Amino acid sequence: MSLPGAPHLQRHGKELQLDGMSLDALAREFGTPLFVYSQRAMLTAVGAYQRALVHRPHLICYAMKANPSLAVLQTFARAGCGFDIVSGGELYRALAAGVDPAKIVYSGVGKKPEEIKAALKADILLFNLESSQELEEINRIAGRLKLKARVALRINPDIDPQTHPYISTGLKQNKFGVAYAEAIALYRKARDLPHLRITGMDCHIGSQLTDISPFIAAAEKILVLVDMLTDEGIRLEHLDLGGGLGIRYNDEIPLAISDYVSALLAVMRGRSEKLILEPGRVLVGNAGVLLTRVEYLKHGEEKNFAIVDAAMNDLMRPALYDAYHDIVPVKRENHLVQNYEVVGPICETGDFIGHARELSIAPKSLLAVLSAGAYGMSMSSNYNSRPRASEVMVDGKQVHLIRERETVEQLYAGEKLISQVL
Ligand code: LLP
Repeated sequence: MSLPGAPHLQRHGKELQLDGMSLDALAREFGTPLFVYSQRAMLTAVGAYQRALVHRPHLICYAMKANPSLAVLQTFARAGCGFDIVSGGELYRALAAGVDPAKIVYSGVGKKPEEIKAALKADILLFNLESSQELEEINRIAGRLKLKARVALRINPDIDPQTHPYISTGLKQNKFGVAYAEAIALYRKARDLPHLRITGMDCHIGSQLTDISPFIAAAEKILVLVDMLTDEGIRLEHLDLGGGLGIRYNDEIPLAISDYVSALLAVMRGRSEKLILEPGRVLVGNAGVLLTRVEYLKHGEEKNFAIVDAAMNDLMRPALYDAYHDIVPVKRENHLVQNYEVVGPICETGDFIGHARELSIAPKSLLAVLSAGAYGMSMSSNYNSRPRASEVMVDGKQVHLIRERETVEQLYAGEKLISQVL
């Protein structure tokens, strides 16, 4: 029997498996905390986009911030995807994974000169520009390199995506994109800069959206600008409508990828621009689980605590956004069912993985934290000098260790003691 929202997770008798692999065996082999990914689930999600877009010129640019591990990038590159990057680090990571630079789009409000230069030299597909000054900066750097940079402007459409405020990006009070009212003037400016070539328009309004209407409202506003530009003789080759499609963590009812794409295509009916999309979470979120072992059970005066070996440094989303992740025992065991705060070993009260969960567990029980494939490993840190977890990918037949567990020595490898001053 599959778990809701995660067909690659099945209960076989008393045991939870991922694509037929025993999670218990993986935890014993690789240790915990451990991220386990289903490659099949990733390919299924990207396949849904590709099928829905089959009749339209398109490029699916995986937003690699969701999970930038090389094997994940390799998986999407082989499936034909492009990539949305937001830093020089992501550029080099993508190149290291063998990604074709001609499929890379570069977004982000604060690109540094050396990052811009590296991306121009790599001959990436295009830059999504987010301010007037950035236009000038990219024009200047491209000029020095005797190149023309392909650019789109990221528009802030001032649409409320109805999601967590920290991950809303398309409201006028957010730092992202150029103001809607200034967009046309900035396109004129870009047209007149000699080392820029305008190729499209971009917008990304936020993340974990479960309703279609903000996506549609933003697309419609963007298209008004596209038509105004056409009237001025500025013809765009592509429209990038960003990422943001939500997934099921708890009781959300997310949009099916096919419905979401059909709705966007309906708004674009009669137009010939290539459609670029930048999905992140929806391609990887539910493909991954975080395995963690119970260290201690502690029965406090008010609450019961299950102290596990994963913490906010491994999965920051609960601490940062009060996000919900389902937590399920990997094996069904016959312990007293109790209500637990599932917490990590880090010295902060905000270090929790889940509040008030009914669980039948004992010390050494193994738990799977679900929907941990997106913004899990990628937002992990070394807080409390904790080495980062390792990652494995199941490809349907085999298990691949795709990231070794960090060692304690790696934690301070770049550090220096100061020379003693007497
Ligand atoms: N494109 C741009 C320009 C973005 O900034 C993002 C995400 C995406 C695409 C992909 O969005 P997605 O399809 O994954 O929603 N750490 C947060 C999410 C931050 C999203 C940031 N930008 C979380 O854990 O919920």
